[in-house]
Amino acid sequence: DRSKGCSSECTGEGGSPKVAKTFEPSLGVKKPTKALLLVILSPVGPYFSSGSFKPVTLWANPQYVRAWQGGTGDCKMGGNYGSSLFAQCHAMEKGCQQVLWLYGEDHQITEVGTMNLFLYWINEDGEEELATPPLDGIILPGVTRQSILDLAREWGEFKVSERY
Ligand SMILES: Cc1ncc(COP(=O)(O)O)c(C=O)c1O
Repeated sequence: DRSKGCSSECTGEGGSPKVAKTFEPSLGVKKPTKALLLVILSPVGPYFSSGSFKPVTLWANPQYVRAWQGGTGDCKMGGNYGSSLFAQCHAMEKGCQQVLWLYGEDHQITEVGTMNLFLYWINEDGEEELATPPLDGIILPGVTRQSILDLAREWGEFKVSERY
């Protein structure tokens, strides 16, 4: 109902609008010759059972790797999600809501579930810092990530870094 816009009338208390993108499927494993981009706008409730603004519990286990250099983890594509579901099931079995994805020998934190990750903290030099991993080939360049970086840099209230 366009007249309701994205107010709580259509999203429910604490809900959000959802914008979904999808491409026309093609049979067979090949590069498609044409694609139709569909954008679906619909109301959703809170993503997690804990509610809209409550923290989610994370499960970190270096046994599972979401993305790697030379792979496709930095692209929005279906294949990335299939393999991540196994770790997600284990996280839920352990009583956690999402997987904190680690990478490399030193277990760098990269993303959470299907979300980019930000840390807001007082860093080693005593500075207020908002940090998120850099787009080095294993991080998905999400529009939410870029928007947060742009806004935080515009505010200029604290250090903003793309780093590990
Ligand atoms: C692995 C991963 N990271 C981050 C995101 C967030 O991207 P966006 O902010 O564009 O929704 C997604 C969303 O699909 C994702 O699958």
